[in-house]
Amino acid sequence: MIALTFEAPDGTRVDAKAEPGETLLQVGQRAGQPLEGTCGGQMACATCHVLIDPGFLDRLPDPSAEEEDMLDLVPDATRCSRLACQIVMTERLADMVVRLP
Ligand code: FES
Repeated sequence: MIALTFEAPDGTRVDAKAEPGETLLQVGQRAGQPLEGTCGGQMACATCHVLIDPGFLDRLPDPSAEEEDMLDLVPDATRCSRLACQIVMTERLADMVVRLP
């Protein structure tokens, strides 16, 4: 199991556990986080937008062109923005903090 933490905009933190190979969206939804994931991971909705701990950005594969295009449409996107449906959990992401916008 991979431990990680979700942080709400008000600073409230929720600890979660992930299996390798799950998407961050699946983990967040199981942990009760408000990630709708309306399009089911098709990169068509951006309701799974999250902000990744800057120290972990380098541990993630670069976003695809499709993910970049979708993030360009998110008004509150930052350089730490990713789509949770596109992030596959690995041991390298243990102890990551994921902020909700
Ligand atoms: S679930 Fe729709 S873009 Fe991630």
